[in-house]
Amino acid sequence: MTFKEQILQGIPSELPSPHVYPKGINRAPKRKDILSKDEKQLAIRNALRYFPKEWHKKLAVEFAQELKDYGRIYMYRFKPTYDFYARPISEYPAQSQQAAAIMLMMQNNLNPAVAQHPEELITYGGNGAVFQNWAQYLLTMQYLATMTDEQTLNMYSGHPMGLFPSSKNAPRVVVTNGMMIPNYSKPDDWEKFNALGVTQYGQMTAGSFMYIGPQGIVHGTTITVMNAFRKILPKKENPSGKIFLTSGLGGMSGAQPKAGNIAGCITICAEVNQKAATKRHEQGWVDVLIDNMDDLVTRTKQARENDEVISIAYIGNIVNVWERFDEENIFIHVGSDQTSLHIPWTGGYYPVDISYEESNRLIREEPKLFKEKVEETLRRHAEAINKHTAKGTYFFDYGNAFLLEASRAGADVMANNQIDFKYKSYVQDILGPMCFDYGFGPFRWVCTSGKPEDLDKTDQIAMEVLQGIMENSPEEIQLQMQDNITWIKDAKKNKMVVGSQARILYADAEGRVKIANAFNDAVAKGEIGAVVLGRDHHDVSGTDSPYRETSNIYDGSQFTADMAIQNVIGDSFRGATWVSIHNGGGVGWGEVINGGFGMLLDGTQEAEARLKSMLFYDVNNGIARRSWARNEEALFAVKREMERTPTLKVTIPNLVEDDILANLF
Ligand SMILES: NC(=O)c1ccc[n+]([C@@H]2O[C@H](COP(=O)([O-])OP(=O)(O)OC[C@H]3O[C@@H](n4cnc5c(N)ncnc54)[C@H](O)[C@@H]3O)[C@@H](O)[C@H]2O)c1
Repeated sequence: MTFKEQILQGIPSELPSPHVYPKGINRAPKRKDILSKDEKQLAIRNALRYFPKEWHKKLAVEFAQELKDYGRIYMYRFKPTYDFYARPISEYPAQSQQAAAIMLMMQNNLNPAVAQHPEELITYGGNGAVFQNWAQYLLTMQYLATMTDEQTLNMYSGHPMGLFPSSKNAPRVVVTNGMMIPNYSKPDDWEKFNALGVTQYGQMTAGSFMYIGPQGIVHGTTITVMNAFRKILPKKENPSGKIFLTSGLGGMSGAQPKAGNIAGCITICAEVNQKAATKRHEQGWVDVLIDNMDDLVTRTKQARENDEVISIAYIGNIVNVWERFDEENIFIHVGSDQTSLHIPWTGGYYPVDISYEESNRLIREEPKLFKEKVEETLRRHAEAINKHTAKGTYFFDYGNAFLLEASRAGADVMANNQIDFKYKSYVQDILGPMCFDYGFGPFRWVCTSGKPEDLDKTDQIAMEVLQGIMENSPEEIQLQMQDNITWIKDAKKNKMVVGSQARILYADAEGRVKIANAFNDAVAKGEIGAVVLGRDHHDVSGTDSPYRETSNIYDGSQFTADMAIQNVIGDSFRGATWVSIHNGGGVGWGEVINGGFGMLLDGTQEAEARLKSMLFYDVNNGIARRSWARNEEALFAVKREMERTPTLKVTIPNLVEDDILANLF
């Protein structure tokens, strides 16, 4: 059967042969055995509803075994044998080009070169699922292949509930992932309801089909590091020869040295796991590997003297580096940490003065002692950082719960008021005020032709548009504009494309609309094939997350999720091709509500109207909320936008003088 025929048949009419697990594929960890006997029966009953009765007896036994072996029912037998990758859009069977674009994006998220656990339909983050099982995948592709532009597919946590009549202007797909009644949103609730087959963790761009590999994280980290240096350096001084000290060369943290090189500083990144460090070195993401502290000191001093731009991986514990650099009086300009402190007791953070192997033994055999060692290390870690910050180092928390866990371990990280931390997080200090509040966020696009030449052309178009905007942009956003022009100029050189022909760029509402419009024109003229637009959920308006994306909201509303919900509803009737809203992602199940969209630019006038309406709202909704929270930069941005767009009327807060409140209570 051809690829197209296989897509069109959905669930095959004959039972496929048992699955052969490919070798060398990274498999998802075995999940918790959390269901009672009755619940296990329910999970099997739920799974069997995808299949004809005559297969039930056989599949019931097989699925029960999967539940036992893996803690979930993935229905491996139904995984198609064709290759998974973003085929050019013309290769999908479709009556709707919009639906074909969605198939392309789904296939990209399941491409083994892109996805973390492709057999289990997990794209990233350990649990970021596109679907819960292979039956959902097969049915969804069939629906997409047969639907028209007058129908909408509803997807409930990977399950295609069905096609409903709608209209040309409606989204083709509406995705919800992990949406729970709020009281059922604790971590074990995910384990239980996911095992039952009724919900899934979509992370951010996994369950919304908008993942583009490591490029997204490299760009975000570059923006963060660049702006961190800006906060501390005199205007126009560049970061070469200045030190950024951090740790972690894992999944996301591995982007730090590459980002440091693009930002143009000296990056020193400690990593206890030699394999992780070597892998990043082999990939060319870090320039030099050093496993000896004396050598690290010598090489660092040399890099300082020569004003170098270099990234160094130190194989060892980060605490030793902070302490030794203090003794050596090596000045650290910017410091952070990206160990996995969101999971401190199971190997996310390794204690100092104990070998990596011994630590792993302690985790398994003496977890209580391991915990004590981690806490001791966190106290030492914070003490060493405090010594450096007393000398002028700028330290920020990288959203990895470093300050939270350090405070729980009794480290000296609390501010004088004993409520806040001594140091701010990257969103509070950098991304929030410098990017999100002005509307800058991780806009992205994918060339559906699959041709690298198309991506080159879009890079060129985007750069010219940004240069044009920059000529008339106010002082407040000149730097952000310049960063993105520099990024897009070098984007190809950075060789970050894995999977689909995709690009990321931080742009504000004006930039996003103008770039998208120029792409649509180029599609209309036949210069490039159709383009899919989207963004990370980690953005201005899409995500409510009190300890990350909305951590720089200080009016109490950081614990509400109205913005993310308003956003997904607003995007859906302004022209998105698909919309998604998720519980969980990054910081955890129950801790964040985040949403995103995808939009096909097919060169039509309808696409032009849609992009103008939706992209404008998709950014300005968040700016309005941020300005209502009294954020200065957002107030600036929203007032500026209201001057340009008379139909935008946002409620502006009146600011109260502190002394009026001082003696009230
Ligand atoms: N980059 C971002 O934009 C971003 C944003 C938000 C949150 N985060 C957070 O950053 C953390 C890291 O994410 P990841 O995907 O890289 O995790 P990961 O577990 O893949 O990598 C962390 C690395 O830190 C190393 N490590 C642990 N303790 C160490 C120590 N004491 N000294 C030196 N190295 C040590 C580990 O060996 C591991 O390789 C997570 O908590 C994540 O939520 C990152």
